[in-house]
Amino acid sequence: MRKPLIIANWKMNKTISETEQYAQEFLQLKKNTERIDLVICPPFTGLAKLRAVCKEQINLGGQNMFWENSGAYTGEISADMLLSCGCRYVIVGHSERRRLFNESNSIVNRKMKIALEKRLIPVLCVGETLQERENKLAYDIVSEQLREGLAGLEPPGHSWAVAYEPVWAIGTGENAYPDDAQVMAAFIRAELGTFNKSLPSYTRILYGGSVTENNAAAFFAQADIDGALIGGASLNAETFANIAGKYKTDD
Ligand code: PGA
Repeated sequence: MRKPLIIANWKMNKTISETEQYAQEFLQLKKNTERIDLVICPPFTGLAKLRAVCKEQINLGGQNMFWENSGAYTGEISADMLLSCGCRYVIVGHSERRRLFNESNSIVNRKMKIALEKRLIPVLCVGETLQERENKLAYDIVSEQLREGLAGLEPPGHSWAVAYEPVWAIGTGENAYPDDAQVMAAFIRAELGTFNKSLPSYTRILYGGSVTENNAAAFFAQADIDGALIGGASLNAETFANIAGKYKTDD
């Protein structure tokens, strides 16, 4: 059984005081979330504050990291540093990293490798651009991102996740149709089976791209969608708590 996973990706938002206020508010609002893994990925500068306020009640994740352990890499941050801030998760290959910071599939692959080695839970982001979708390349692109992103890696053997985030749906208010996202999630699950037979059963597949309080339940109802990666709508503590509340677990 896959445990649902709902992740807030704050991107480059919130100062320390805003982080503290959000954390206090969110702790009051979150309910019935024991059966869901809830993760917040603040900017690196907010990790220590979130840890201090939320303790073990919220999982923390990095939005990115570098593949070396230490050294002369100005502006970068390592897996060990994330772990030392209390992170269990890390987002790898977000489309904004790919598009704005030229992250190729081979860079994504190196980051996946170190995340798995360090036993951080990677959330590998994949998804097509609008042009690729219009050219009927969505499945080819996602397949390539998976194949190259996972090339040569040992199967995680522990919990991890793939987030399907169509680039045209991120921050645009234009979400994918839940049925279409389900078809892609099922495709991703099947593709994972070509790497390793056991991957499809334990990999959590998330949808991301303009998830809101209004549409979240329709994504969560899909058979192959195990949660969401949420940007804009996660910036408000009440909205994020309400979205998490939309996930119906069996009891
Ligand atoms: P959005 O971002 O929810 O603001 O569309 C999602 C993401 O980038 O992970």
